Amino acid sequence: MKILFVCLGNICRSPLAEGAFRVEAEKRGLAAEADSAGTGDWHVGEAPDKRAIAVAEAHGVDVSAQRARKVSKTDFRKFDYVIALDMAVLAQLREMRPDDAEAELSLFLDHVEGRAGEDVADPYYGEEAGFGTCWADCVAGAEALVEKLGK
Ligand code: 4NP
Repeated sequence: MKILFVCLGNICRSPLAEGAFRVEAEKRGLAAEADSAGTGDWHVGEAPDKRAIAVAEAHGVDVSAQRARKVSKTDFRKFDYVIALDMAVLAQLREMRPDDAEAELSLFLDHVEGRAGEDVADPYYGEEAGFGTCWADCVAGAEALVEKLGK
């Protein structure tokens, strides 16, 4: 099972979603491969934002080896699930998804009970605290997703 998390820059939210998901999948014994990408190319090749690395590290998760890349049409053939971190990203992914691609596209927090339609807020331009909220959202999404996919 292959899962791709997608945000805008691939340096804040989707690296944290990938990290949280990897840990949760391992904890629950779910055999899954996770990756992340961005719809934008501003940070291609870069490590996650320092603040994202720090918040993950504070929870015992190392995301520092990840490198940003841009999502591509072929991702919709390589991955079983493509998960958007917010509605704007979801709309962009719907546009670029090839008609014959098999990947199932969804909004991350749609998987969490009571949070359907919610975005994982972009912490990039905000205060440090935004990264804590982002991490908590990513853990909630990862737990719900692993639970669903494990069934
Ligand atoms: P992300 O945050 O989508 O969570 O990685 C952003 C990072 C960088 C930019 C926008 C959002 N940017 O415009 O450079």
